[in-house]
Amino acid sequence: MTRTVRFHRTGGPDVLRLEEVDPGEPGPGELLVGVEAIGLNRAEALFRSGTYIEPVRAFPARLGAEAAGVVRAAGAGVTGLRPGQPVSVIPAFSMNDYGVYADTAVVPASAVLHRPDGLDAVGGAAVWMPYLTAYGALVDTGGMRAGDTVVLNAASSSVGLAAIDVAARAGARSIAVTRTPAKKDALLKAGAAEVIVSGGRAVADRILDLTGGQGARLVLDAVAGPGVIDLARAVAPGGTLIEYGALSGEPTPYPGFELGMPALNMRTYTVHELTTDPRRLRRAEAFVASGLRTGAFAPAVDRVFDLGDIVEAHRYLEAGAQIGKIVATTGR
Ligand SMILES: NC(=O)c1ccc[n+]([C@@H]2O[C@H](COP(=O)([O-])OP(=O)(O)OC[C@H]3O[C@@H](n4cnc5c(N)ncnc54)[C@H](OP(=O)(O)O)[C@@H]3O)[C@@H](O)[C@H]2O)c1
Repeated sequence: MTRTVRFHRTGGPDVLRLEEVDPGEPGPGELLVGVEAIGLNRAEALFRSGTYIEPVRAFPARLGAEAAGVVRAAGAGVTGLRPGQPVSVIPAFSMNDYGVYADTAVVPASAVLHRPDGLDAVGGAAVWMPYLTAYGALVDTGGMRAGDTVVLNAASSSVGLAAIDVAARAGARSIAVTRTPAKKDALLKAGAAEVIVSGGRAVADRILDLTGGQGARLVLDAVAGPGVIDLARAVAPGGTLIEYGALSGEPTPYPGFELGMPALNMRTYTVHELTTDPRRLRRAEAFVASGLRTGAFAPAVDRVFDLGDIVEAHRYLEAGAQIGKIVATTGR
């Protein structure tokens, strides 16, 4: 039996229960992982509350898609990963099928990466989702090149902070946008070329000023909702507005018509595009691992909780004061 976080109905953080559950044996193509640290993501708060892009299929439901630990056992057909190896689990599966908020969890081997030397469990649970999402959206999908200007909305999010590093490594200039004045210095320190404190208000004019009226070739947005019309005004002709989250919780209009049909590309993006395509994932893994080796990339960890305090950790996640990743450790 292993401690596992489950919930029996959707709702706020207090629906989460720490229960003793049989983790089962790894089947073909699966691994049993001894979990040391778990990276918390907004997707889990949404899944738990029944507002995620994918509804909960059955109760009790499990949670969690990002973790670090050690391989305990490998199922049939798994190659290249063996018991004792330090690994990270990345989001490449549905939480209706697997969940890593546990001391031990079965996961698909296709969602498991070697943990680079020198990366501890907390870092190994915090680094992949942000950097893979940022690389996937900006480089793999957006084709970001040296000299581009990119706007990063919700820049203090774990993905936003990774995107600052990914832009710098590609030779692009990042304009970070935050609602919160207190986060400005942290974003400058994180390497953003410019920081706009929006206070939740329109930012397009300021972005146009900073780009000599041109706008940005890529705008990466996790907020969506009515604010996309303003953000779309800041996209350079032929540039792309990439929507990868819906933090606003409000309906999102299509800005192309509102703005008189400019040459605007607008695209939704999920990291699963990358993590479920082995060839693209290998390229992304190499990019992130090389950034980690040189020190250009590093996990940004805001706060570490104990798995036993998962309710409190989810409350903290939803309060939105963090700068970087929230991690829960199992004490293994
Ligand atoms: N598509 C994908 O594959 C993918 C992958 C990872 C994450 N995501 C999505 O990306 C978003 C960020 O995820 P994360 O885990 O990096 O987030 P996070 O670390 O929890 O950061 C959230 C930050 O977003 C900012 N924000 C702006 N508008 C907001 C609003 N209306 N409500 C709440 N926060 C708002 C806040 O910072 P300020 O105070 O600076 O504004 C807040 O601290 C989430 O929507 C998540 O679902 C998508």
